[in-house]
Amino acid sequence: MVQRVLSGMRPTGKLHLGHWSGALVNWVRLQDQYECFYVIVDYHALTSEYETPQVVRESIPEILLDWLAVGIDPERSVIFVQSHVPEHAELHLLLSMIVPLPWLERVPTYKEMKQQLVEKNLDTYGFLGYPLLQTADIILYKAEIVPVGEDQLPHLELAREIVRRFNHLYGPVFPEPQALLTPVPRVPGTDGRKMSKSFHNAIYLSDPPAVVWEKLRPMVTDPARVRRTDPGNPDVCPVFDLHKVFSPQPDIDFVNVECRRAGIGCIDCKQILFKNLSGFLEPIQARRRDWEARRDDLMGVLHEGAQKARAIAHETLREAQTAVGLITPDEVRPREKRTEDGKVGP
Ligand code: TRP
Ligand code: SF4
Repeated sequence: MVQRVLSGMRPTGKLHLGHWSGALVNWVRLQDQYECFYVIVDYHALTSEYETPQVVRESIPEILLDWLAVGIDPERSVIFVQSHVPEHAELHLLLSMIVPLPWLERVPTYKEMKQQLVEKNLDTYGFLGYPLLQTADIILYKAEIVPVGEDQLPHLELAREIVRRFNHLYGPVFPEPQALLTPVPRVPGTDGRKMSKSFHNAIYLSDPPAVVWEKLRPMVTDPARVRRTDPGNPDVCPVFDLHKVFSPQPDIDFVNVECRRAGIGCIDCKQILFKNLSGFLEPIQARRRDWEARRDDLMGVLHEGAQKARAIAHETLREAQTAVGLITPDEVRPREKRTEDGKVGP
């Protein structure tokens, strides 16, 4: 049987080059080998953006367009919005009965995020439950492979512990999910720090060429290269980090040599990068425009995705509820119906 992959992103803004090299490039590849579920986790976004929910709402179509633009394929993958599949909330509630509070309180991202985002009140029930909701996202589809960044490992560990606890208490329903970590090259933003929306240093997948150049031109370089005649060191230059991800090998080698002997200036170097980035972004943006012109089809992707997801989610939730003893195996509840094949569906 083909294994399932599930991953999600919070709709809190458009996606940038960091999202591409940190996640999307892998997501696209995984489609060749696995049954993939990609979910726009609006409830997760709300745990921190509940005071400005319009951001979440507006970001959903943006994220969807970015996904489709890079090649997440609705013919092969199930693409959907978390809140469109109410089973996520129901399983989260069921799991909340068995998760000991200290398991949630000791998740490192919990304290870190609260300290980092002091301007937001994250002393909420929802925020504490963030990784438990993530557990529900994953195990609702019995996904065994979860491509995530390193920062998410504690959440995967919690998911595994919850699965063990559930299976121990009620019988074997869920498989333990595995994180799939792929080494991610450094993608710095224009100020040299990690590319991130909150640092205002990001180059977005949807930035038109003029905007990309406006961002690249003043980008931080090796601080030792003050004058054009000063030799530089690409190893400490964030522009070179971007070359390593987005330029072909001959260009990388050329910059590596010419920078060190001041054979090129930083503007020359950035122009080479700009040319390569433009070539990378062009087909992505063309595909984005295609989808933008078909708003109805765009919503159709989400409808179809939610339907496919729900069929599976409903079945798993029933299994879990049956294991706990909330329902009996062949009971059909008021909001359910029997499908043609005799199963019970939403
Ligand atoms: N917490 C993840 C992040 O911030 C997003 C997420 C929500 C997720 N549910 C998920 C990732 C399920 C993988 C699987 O990146
Ligand atoms: Fe960085 Fe390129 Fe300038 Fe060298 S030439 S310091 S790699 S921008």
